[in-house]
Amino acid sequence: MNNFLVDKKNSKRKIREINLALVGMMGSGKTTVGKYLSLKLKRKFFDLDQEVSEAAGCSINEIFEKYGEKNFRNGENRILKKILKNENKIVLSVGGGAFIDQELRKIINNNCVSIWLDADFKTLHKRLKNNHQHRPMFKGHDFNNRLNELIAKRKEFYELAHHKIIVKNSLIPEIASKIIDKFNE
Ligand code: S3P
Repeated sequence: MNNFLVDKKNSKRKIREINLALVGMMGSGKTTVGKYLSLKLKRKFFDLDQEVSEAAGCSINEIFEKYGEKNFRNGENRILKKILKNENKIVLSVGGGAFIDQELRKIINNNCVSIWLDADFKTLHKRLKNNHQHRPMFKGHDFNNRLNELIAKRKEFYELAHHKIIVKNSLIPEIASKIIDKFNE
């Protein structure tokens, strides 16, 4: 990636030495690919959303409804730090908004090799059209407009990941292989 703002420190580290963090939009496949990758690499897998939800004792939706987005983001921050303090060489999938936050992005890029699963509008639309109703970021919005808006607003931040993998219709093992290949380049 040609972005001079990316902290390149970790980008060339060997895959066996460091945490891998999958970032990108909802529906880009972070959790599915992350789980697959963790099995392939024999690593522990963490899903930040799931950890936040377990810590709060309720679903992400309920956290947004009861406590608001700001508190959810604080939860992401706290739990991410906790995971990275206690674990190493893990595969981590982070919710779509986590990498947009400057502090979280810095923590992720300083402690992990970050990989942006870049899925286009058509791909995300197909994957989210039947389940966006239950996602807090879409509540009260027109689905198409909101999806377009989030993709457009977030792109510049996702571009700050160390690596980008174009997702399109690729199968999970293909995406995982592309990620592993990044470390052999
Ligand atoms: C969010 C994405 C979700 C979850 C929350 C907010 C976002 O995670 O963290 O609903 O702001 O994009 P996934 O990307 O894993 O669906």
